[in-house]
Amino acid sequence: MAVELTPAVFASMKSLAQTAASRAYIPYSRFPVGAALQLKDGTLIPGCNVENVSYGLSNCAERTAIYAALAQGYQAKDFANLLIYMPGGRLYSPCGACRQVIAEFFAAEAEVIATCDTEQQQRWQVAELLPASFQFAPAQEIPS
Ligand code: THU
Repeated sequence: MAVELTPAVFASMKSLAQTAASRAYIPYSRFPVGAALQLKDGTLIPGCNVENVSYGLSNCAERTAIYAALAQGYQAKDFANLLIYMPGGRLYSPCGACRQVIAEFFAAEAEVIATCDTEQQQRWQVAELLPASFQFAPAQEIPS
């Protein structure tokens, strides 16, 4: 069930994501990203990107927010939608790795909203971001 994203909630999520982006650990890319995950109870959870000298270990803002929510005891059934903020005057879409993780925890019709430093925004449903996503078959369906 999609939770309605009112203009006031949108503004709060964007503000939280911008603050999170200001805390990003980005010595390599210098590209800060912030995320705000809205839970169905209205709680907002921030995330930022955290890079590593071994570049492949870097964690995107979207995944940081999702993992933080899980660490706080929330579950997939509690997740409503996810906003991302990337600085500048254009919109970016989530990376492939994040799409797979988003698909793991959000309903197919949940919304992902991209924002930037202008009033522009773009919204996708999770199923649009990762169509025909891999679904793990129950063990008894796997041929031995
Ligand atoms: N990044 C995110 O945090 N989210 C995305 O969806 C795309 C990329 C981060 C990873 C890296 O720290 C920086 O942006 C440049 O790719």
